[in-house]
Amino acid sequence: MSMSAAPDASPGRAPLALETVAISKRFGAVHAVDALSLAIPRQGTTSIVGPNGSGKSTLVNLLSGVLPLDGGMVIIDGASLRVVKAYETPAHGLTRTFQEVRLFDQMTVWDNIMVVLTERRLFPALLERLKPAHREKARRILENVGMWERRDALAMNLSYGQRKLLEIGRALALDVSIYLFDEPFAGLFPQMLERVKDIMKQMRADGRTIVFISHNMDIVRELSDRIIVLDSGALLAAGDVEPVLNSPEVIEAYLGV
Ligand SMILES: Nc1ncnc2c1ncn2[C@@H]1O[C@H](COP(=O)(O)OP(=O)(O)O)[C@@H](O)[C@H]1O
Ligand SMILES: [Mg+2]
Repeated sequence: MSMSAAPDASPGRAPLALETVAISKRFGAVHAVDALSLAIPRQGTTSIVGPNGSGKSTLVNLLSGVLPLDGGMVIIDGASLRVVKAYETPAHGLTRTFQEVRLFDQMTVWDNIMVVLTERRLFPALLERLKPAHREKARRILENVGMWERRDALAMNLSYGQRKLLEIGRALALDVSIYLFDEPFAGLFPQMLERVKDIMKQMRADGRTIVFISHNMDIVRELSDRIIVLDSGALLAAGDVEPVLNSPEVIEAYLGV
């Protein structure tokens, strides 16, 4: 792709998808995220790694407005926010998935997708869900995440891996530009793991910005254009994958020596 054809190059567009300026979150005496400043460029895949309890999920919760900031500022697609409201993040072009999957358990797989496609308009939702365009989009998403055959199952009856795939499908239904995935690969059997990798590769090819948390260094190496390493709520290292993973301070943080 030539530089001039890239969306990055269009005038007036923020060069960064996400930026944090000294953001903090405390839980009692624990500084889960501690005056953290980082920048995530538009497009491509960025992984967030770090020991357990290093603040990875808290960071995603702050970026997506699931937790309020104690201090600092989040800049999403050029919009500077000291208060990030979760319900407004899709309007800023951002959505996320949870380490502990969140679905409408009493609803079918199909309806879990359909509510996302129609929920922005409350009153016409009942009529809209019958529209061929929505039905076609729901079918495409469910095929993409490998859940078409299970479309009539209740979400509560899905396996752990199927729940993760459906949650990714719900995120895809929002059709935003920035996706945050909190441990999308954790606990998946190989076949589903490959499916999630393929979905993320396709999203990247479509020009989206993908941020994911993982402990699986093989996957981090395979998927990431760049990497962010957290330790004790602070930035330990960031940049190209191999130099960062091979740096002494990162090795030290992982081995705990
Ligand atoms: N809701 C919470 N209440 C109290 N402490 C929390 C809460 N969420 C996270 N923490 C603490 O904040 C720190 C960072 O947690 P977390 O962001 O979940 O780390 P990670 O995702 O990297 O494993 C940990 O010490 C954790 O125990
Ligand atoms: Mg976590």
